[in-house]
Amino acid sequence: MKGVKKITDGIFWIGGSDKRLERFENIFPIPEGVSYNSYFIDDEKTAVFDTADITVSDQYLENLKDSLDGRKLDYLVVLHMEPDHCSLISLVAGLFPEVTIVGNAKTFTFMEQFFPESASYNKLEVKEGDTLSTGKHTFQFVNAPMVHWPEVMFAYDTASKALLSADAFGTFGALDGGIFSDEYDFEKDFLDSARRYYANIVGKYGMQVQAVLKKAAGLDIQMILPLHGPVWRKDIAWFIDKYQKWSTYEPETDDIAIIYGSLYGHTASAAQALASCIREKTNADIKVFDVSGTDVSYLIGEVWRCKKLVLMCPTYNNGIYPPMESFLSDMNALGVQNRVFALAQNGTWAPVTVKLMTEKISTLKNVTIVDESLTIKSALHKNDQESLERFADAIIGA
Ligand code: FEO
Repeated sequence: MKGVKKITDGIFWIGGSDKRLERFENIFPIPEGVSYNSYFIDDEKTAVFDTADITVSDQYLENLKDSLDGRKLDYLVVLHMEPDHCSLISLVAGLFPEVTIVGNAKTFTFMEQFFPESASYNKLEVKEGDTLSTGKHTFQFVNAPMVHWPEVMFAYDTASKALLSADAFGTFGALDGGIFSDEYDFEKDFLDSARRYYANIVGKYGMQVQAVLKKAAGLDIQMILPLHGPVWRKDIAWFIDKYQKWSTYEPETDDIAIIYGSLYGHTASAAQALASCIREKTNADIKVFDVSGTDVSYLIGEVWRCKKLVLMCPTYNNGIYPPMESFLSDMNALGVQNRVFALAQNGTWAPVTVKLMTEKISTLKNVTIVDESLTIKSALHKNDQESLERFADAIIGA
C-alpha cells in the first residue's frame, strides 16, 4: 500500500509519477516529471476515477489491486478520455470484466476510436447534472468541455465536497512523497510549472475555463482533486484566483520579459543593455530570455505571467528570425490577449522585423504595441544610447 495515499474518508490517490518522460505530449520538456492521478473510492460500491498513463502502469495496477484487496471493481469513471489518463482502460476492463465504465456520449465515441474493443464493455452514459452513488458518496457530473478536450467532465462529491477536476488545476511536476499542495512550498516548487502547464495545455480555452469556473462557484468546494499534481485542501481560493487571472488573460504580474533572438550575440548584448537601462530607471522585475535557447513552452509560461513583453530580433531571409516567428505563432495559436509589447529589430541591411512582428501581434486581442521601437544596425553602439533610453522610457511608461 506504499503507493496509495489517503485523501479523505473513502477517497484514495492511486496514481503514479513519471520522472523519465522527457516531453509531455512529446512536445513540452518536463525535467520536473509529471504525476498521473487516479482516485479510488472505497465505499459500498468500489469505483475508480480515471486511470493513468501507460508509463506508470505497473505502479498503477499495484495500487489498484492493493486498494481493492480482493473486492471487485464496480465502476470506472472516465472524466477525461486523453491517453495520459485513459491508456489503461483496456487493461483494467480486462482484469475486471464486470466493471461498468461511466462516461458521457463523447467519452464513449472517443473510447471506441482509441479502443475498438470497448464496444463490448458495460457502460453507463451520464450527462451534466446526473449523479452516481457508491453508497456514502454521491458524485454529481459537471460538463467541462474543452478543459481541455470536448468530452471532459468534473465530478463533485456531495459527501466530501471534493471536486474531481480532470486536467483543470493540474500541473507538471512529479509528486515527491506528498499528495497535498500544502505539503510543499507550492509557490517555489510548482507555481511556474502549473502556469506553464495551464498556458500551454489549456491556455487557448480561457472562455471555456471561465464557464466552468462560474459553474463551480455554485458548489461548496473543500478539496480539488486534479489529474496532475498535488491535491488542494487548503488555500483553494488562492489557486482558483490564479485560474481566474490566467483564464481571463490578465497578467499575473507587472513584470517585464525581454525575449531576444541573436545569431552572433549582438542582439543578446542589446537585450542586456536594455534590461540594465530599465533597471537603472525603475525597480521593475525583468527577465531576459534567449528565444533560441529556451523551449517555447517556458516563454509561453512567461507570457501568462508578465504584463510587458519586449521582443528583439534580427531580420532573417527578409523575414522574422525563425525561432521568434515560431514563438509568435504559438502566442497566436493560444489566443494571447491583453499584453503590452515593445519591439526591437537588428539588421545589417534592410531590417524589417519590427514591421513584420507588428503585423503578427496586431492580430492578437487587446494588445498595446509601444509606439517607440528600437533599430540596431548590426550592433548596439555608444551613439545608440539615446534611442535605447527612449525605448526603455517608453516600455516603463506603457
Ligand atoms: Fe492530462 Fe488533457 O490530459
